[in-house]
Amino acid sequence: MTRIPPGREGAAHNLDPQDWDALRAEAHRALDAMIDNIRGIRAEPVWRPASEEARSFFRRSAPREGQELARTLEEFQRYVAPFSMGNRHPMFMGWVQGAGTPVGMVAEMLAAGLNANCGGRNHIALDVEREVAHWMAQAFGFPGDASGIFVTGASMANFIGLLVARHHATRQENVRLNGLGALKSTLVAYASRDVHNCVRQAMELAGLGARHLRLIAPNERRSMRIEDLAHAIAADRAAGLQPFLIVGTAGTVDTGAIDDLDALADLAQEEEMWFHIDGAFGALAALSETLRPLLKGLERADSVAFDFHKWLHVPYDAGFVLVRDPRAHLAAFKSDAAYLTRAPRGLAAGEIWPCDLGPDLSRGFRALKAWFTIQTFGFDLLSQCIERTCRLAKKLEALIGASVDFSMRAPVTLNIVCFGVTEDPGGAIASEIVMALHESGEAAPSLTIFDGKPAIRAAIVNHRTTEEDIDRFMALLETELARARKKLADAKARAPQPREAPRGPGRTPLSQD
Ligand SMILES: Cc1ncc(COP(=O)(O)O)c(C=O)c1O
Repeated sequence: MTRIPPGREGAAHNLDPQDWDALRAEAHRALDAMIDNIRGIRAEPVWRPASEEARSFFRRSAPREGQELARTLEEFQRYVAPFSMGNRHPMFMGWVQGAGTPVGMVAEMLAAGLNANCGGRNHIALDVEREVAHWMAQAFGFPGDASGIFVTGASMANFIGLLVARHHATRQENVRLNGLGALKSTLVAYASRDVHNCVRQAMELAGLGARHLRLIAPNERRSMRIEDLAHAIAADRAAGLQPFLIVGTAGTVDTGAIDDLDALADLAQEEEMWFHIDGAFGALAALSETLRPLLKGLERADSVAFDFHKWLHVPYDAGFVLVRDPRAHLAAFKSDAAYLTRAPRGLAAGEIWPCDLGPDLSRGFRALKAWFTIQTFGFDLLSQCIERTCRLAKKLEALIGASVDFSMRAPVTLNIVCFGVTEDPGGAIASEIVMALHESGEAAPSLTIFDGKPAIRAAIVNHRTTEEDIDRFMALLETELARARKKLADAKARAPQPREAPRGPGRTPLSQD
């Protein structure tokens, strides 16, 4: 039998508070605590490992009886808040992650209050989403009627872009109805070797097979070699395959490089292929007049995937896919389910619902936090923050360039600095430096394998990072390098020396046994 929670005996069995004023007081306390937490973020370590106490707290069985909200909030403060990811911190430079803003947090709370289901129907949240889509279409130079929806992140946005491209290329065969078996020839897609793995995964998920994603070698600026791409397309056509999609990258994950988008658009046009751009973070550089020329050709793409949660600092998660031709977008997803019948009037009115543009039916009000962010800060300030991170990356590139201990592994195009330890053939020192920095709580770059060798990667995304932070980061690198060298040398000295092979008749130094 279901038991009534303590303090609720005799109350109606709903989940609203019995004492709204007490709830209000607790909610204000929680909000104040989080505002203080964000405000004081610089004084905290970038990251600390979760304590054993916290880890074991989350290994209990589910409670049958509830408890006071105040106690749950205390548990949050004790076991969750101190051990979060660290991406809000100005010294966080790992991967490519947004820092969030207090404004985005307020919007997220308000969206949760409204608890709107944005899969469809006739309510204002969808107008907010459409307005954001319209703003981004304008920012990227897309037509005003381009269609777009919020999704979890760029991985999902790239997948949706690929599905729209697949449907467009195979509309005669109607893959949605008939499946991939109806295809007369194998579909092939093309991207830079530096493309994000989610594009490969999208090929897998779409049933097209990762082996049909041709990875084209990059040039010295790490952008796709257009001639090689043209040859690969020609070779596949000659072999009877069907090239259908070129994926350009605006801001590669490891180095921030940008493909020659204009040249890719030309080729896609000539070859009658779909041109999709993975602009997870880099597409947002279009907001800056200074950086926009780097993205020439973005405005010609058939679809673009990008994230509001990276360079625009909208709280996670807030990916977006924008499609030039709204009919092509709709054709890839719209279906007629009786329970989703549209009505001429009332709550079920409205022509295009977000569930017609992607695989999600139930979806939250992600648009609100993006809308709040843009409405409150404006594109000018947001683009200035983007520009500053690029300047900081250039500064770090110069510091690395001037150091004998470290060397750049690729040129800086936007905000990512990919470098290594000068004498570190296997990358063990780089790896030790990164782990030690994380554990010290002083800074958090990330590690990657670049051209087959480990490299350190500083993705400078955070709107809180300053010039002094970059100087400090460089000093920390030098300190940790000295420590790592000593640690690895000590470990080598302690390791048992290999014994000399016994010499005997018939045994040569080159024997293979
Ligand atoms: C170029 C690029 N594409 C795709 C992604 C995947 O984005 P998400 O993590 O939002 O799915 C990333 C993530 O950093 C990225 O940098």
